[in-house]
Parts: sequence; C-alpha cells; structure tokens
Amino acid sequence: MTENSGPGGPGPQGPPPLPSRRDFDTTVAHPARVWDYWLGGKDNFAADREAAERVVAAMPSMDATARAGRAFLAAAVHYLAAGMGIRQFLDIGTGLPTANNTHEVAQQVGPDSRIVYVDNDPIVLTHARALLTSDARGATAYVDADLRDTGKILAEARNLLDFSQPIALMLLHILHFIPDTDDPYGLVAKLMEPLASGSYLVLAHATVELTPGAPEAAQRYGENNKATMSARSRSEVARFFDGLDLVEPGITPVGVWRPGPMEDIPTQGLATYTAVARKP
Ligand SMILES: C[S@@+](CC[C@H](N)C(=O)[O-])C[C@H]1O[C@@H](n2cnc3c(N)ncnc32)[C@H](O)[C@@H]1O
Repeated sequence: MTENSGPGGPGPQGPPPLPSRRDFDTTVAHPARVWDYWLGGKDNFAADREAAERVVAAMPSMDATARAGRAFLAAAVHYLAAGMGIRQFLDIGTGLPTANNTHEVAQQVGPDSRIVYVDNDPIVLTHARALLTSDARGATAYVDADLRDTGKILAEARNLLDFSQPIALMLLHILHFIPDTDDPYGLVAKLMEPLASGSYLVLAHATVELTPGAPEAAQRYGENNKATMSARSRSEVARFFDGLDLVEPGITPVGVWRPGPMEDIPTQGLATYTAVARKP
C-alpha cells in the first residue's frame, strides 16, 4: 500500500512501484483506458479508442453514460460526506484520475477524510500519485489489488481506515467486470461484512436495460478487451443490496439519483443503475 497522510497519520511511503513493461499490453483494450476515452481523457491507446467507438456505435449514449456516472460519484460522495458525516471511503475500481476524484469531493466537505483507492490496472498504478494528493488533515492510500482478492483489500485498508467507524464502500462501474462464475454477490458480502453499522454501499452498474442498444453494446465491449461485460438487470443489481437499507430514491437509472449539476448531460437512455444503501 502507498499512502499520503497528514500530521499524525502513518506518513508517506514514497511513490508506488512502477509496473514492468510486460504488464502493459497496448494492443488490447483495458477498462480504465476505455473509460478514460469516454470521459474525454488522453490516457488511452488505439485499441482502447477502437473498442470504445465500437460500443458507441451500438449505443450512442455511452459517452453521456460515463459522464453521468462520474456526476453520480460526486453526488453520492458529497451526500455521504455532507449529509451523513462519512469520513472514510474504500473506493475499489478507482480508474484513472479525472475531475472530482473521491478524495477531492470528500475532503472539500471533511478535510480529515481518509480514502483508500484500489485498482488492478497497471496504468492506474502509474497514475496513483495523482490520487494521493490528500489534504494534510486527511489521508489517501492506494492498493494494487483485484476486487476478487477481498482478503488483501481488507487487510491493507485496515492500515488506514478505522473499521470501528462507518466506511463507504464504493463499487462504481466495476462489478459488471465480475462474471457470475466469480461470485460478485459473495465478494460484496465479504467486503461489507466487517464494516461497522452505519456504513454505506455505493454502486453504479451497467445494465442491458434502459436503452435499446445496451445488449449489443455489452456484447461488443468484450471484443479485444482484457475484460468482458456482465451487464445486469435491475433485479440482479438489487441483489447486491440484500440486507441493506436503500437510501431514497432507491435504485435508479444514472442521472436520476440526486444528480447535482448535470445540466449538459442528457438523462434518458443511460444504461447504468445507481444506488446508495446503509448497513443497519
Ligand atoms: C469503468 S472504470 C470506473 C472508474 C471509477 N470507479 C468511476 O466510476 O469513474 C473501472 C475501473 O475498475 C478497474 N477494475 C476492473 N476490474 C477490476 C478488478 N477485478 N479488480 C480491481 N479493479 C478492477 C479498472 O481497471 C478500471 O480502473
């Protein structure tokens, strides 16, 4: 784990180790880089752009879906920090740094907020330094791990987060990369189990519903891509919240849940479900 923390915290441990060249296959699309392309970023290669455009050809609302997804992230983090007093975030499937990263939104409200980022992509690791720009009163850390390795994630998160206090577990636009054969519901349950009462689950998940091109887009996503897409129905997404109390307005298409400043993003036909739920 690599950390940046304020006074009294564990202290910076230097930059994260750079992945070897072997880890970078630029001829195959990677989810973090494809997402970066849809968001208008520059950290992507030809294979990522081609994969992204194949999806857009099937579902023209894809760019707007990604931008609305980021707006949901900011809205949900702001709601939890400002409305619910949450000061600890475990953000798995972080993605490449962009506008309104979790620690920036959280620390605007609570400068002492602590954020642990987790991702398994070597390119995200190389950009981790930008995610470690914590306010001196709070702290951020980066863990290089796969979502399936819940033991490693929880063990490393404990180095920075206090598990006796509420934590917001953020799984935004990542669970659809976990096929049913890898038990995504079991992974979420394992991550929620040690969290204190009053913790939250924040989820954004691709769906085959909501817009006609979504099933074809999900199919195309997996072509020449490191990951495949397991887009799920509303009822399948709802299962992730078993045993939790959904916060109003419940499971909604992205763009509907407390959208905040989204005036320039269309809110129809965006193929993602979003929700926030509290652990009783
Ligand atoms: C679509 S991006 C979403 C980024 C960010 N959560 C957001 O909502 O803007 C998905 C991220 O999840 C990461 N990811 C995909 N599968 C993963 C896994 N099994 N373990 C850890 N990270 C994963 C990718 O590398 C990528 O950075």
